[in-house]
Amino acid sequence: MTDTLLQPRFPMPRHPRDGAAPLIGSSAVMRAVRDHIERVAPTDFTVLIEGESGTGKELVARQIHDISTRRSGPFVALNCAALVETLLEAELFGIEDRTATGVRGRKGKFEHASGGTLFLDEVGDLSLAAQAKLLRALQDLTVERVGGYGAYRVDTRLVAATNKRLATLVDARAFRADLYYRLAGIEVYVPPLRERREDIIELAGYFLERHRHTRSLVLSDAAADALLTYEWPGNVRELERLIERTVAFARSSTIQVDDLPRLLKSPYGAVLQVSMERHDTLRAWGRRYVRLVLERNGQNKRAACRELGISYHTLQGYLRCTQRAGGLTPDATGESDGR
Ligand SMILES: Nc1ncnc2c1ncn2[C@@H]1O[C@H](COP(=O)(O)OP(=O)(O)OP(=O)(O)O)[C@@H](O)[C@H]1O
Ligand SMILES: [Mg+2]
Repeated sequence: MTDTLLQPRFPMPRHPRDGAAPLIGSSAVMRAVRDHIERVAPTDFTVLIEGESGTGKELVARQIHDISTRRSGPFVALNCAALVETLLEAELFGIEDRTATGVRGRKGKFEHASGGTLFLDEVGDLSLAAQAKLLRALQDLTVERVGGYGAYRVDTRLVAATNKRLATLVDARAFRADLYYRLAGIEVYVPPLRERREDIIELAGYFLERHRHTRSLVLSDAAADALLTYEWPGNVRELERLIERTVAFARSSTIQVDDLPRLLKSPYGAVLQVSMERHDTLRAWGRRYVRLVLERNGQNKRAACRELGISYHTLQGYLRCTQRAGGLTPDATGESDGR
């Protein structure tokens, strides 16, 4: 981790309640994503948004719609993974009256989104039959309702998203190659949060403001460090849920590391955690850290010095202290500062 990541920037109040939800993040990768969105939005091309779960794919789809020429039309979202195959087709393309006993005819999302944008989430979960119909809808701009004999014209732009690699599904013959090429003409990749750690504090500040009830809340330096070091497997959604929860239980207007869930405290540098529990001096903590960096560099002392920004002589000093104190766990011996 670089030094700059350990220097938290404090939450800047924004006004998220005005207008559409903004896509937060000033990291270079998020700036590139926003640039890309601005270039593809005004076209009528189909867009495929890829990224892990919780990275903000739906938000990206909404931005594409909101700055497109279709913004005054509807934005209709459908999660393909949430419906069983039979329901999905009717939901997507509509169903004719009396196709089955008691069934009332209705339009599908494709028709509802005419004049606007249809957002198909988890498009990789579409059945092969639904994929064939989707391809036809995209090629001919017509849809055929389930149980129907005719096709209806639609003027719908499709934006699809997936957290699976569609190319892999194509290889496994679970996704039609022709549909894949049609969808993937324009791809927008939303990177996971751990690859844009610069955005974490900015997003946390935004969510603190968005979920606060009355008073403004800020993060302590240590709490900000804990957020920065965590891996965020659930990406921005996980961060948002965490802030929402923390806001609800906050004991004062500054969120301390103790207000965060255990999950975050442990990766808050496993080393730092141990040092804090043992009330290490700065030098004792430094020794722990030096040993770790050395280990990470395959015991290459020169590389470790470069990473730590210290001289070879200083490194040797740290290591000598470690040896004098009796091996690799000097601090467990109750050793003091070593000076
Ligand atoms: N860059 C961002 N700025 C502000 N809020 C964000 C950002 N990215 C994600 N969010 C918020 O995080 C939550 C999850 O985002 P979203 O639903 O768009 O993710 P997703 O990639 O579609 O997830 P899934 O794959 O699980 O469907 C939402 O509440 C969204 O508003
Ligand atoms: Mg989604």
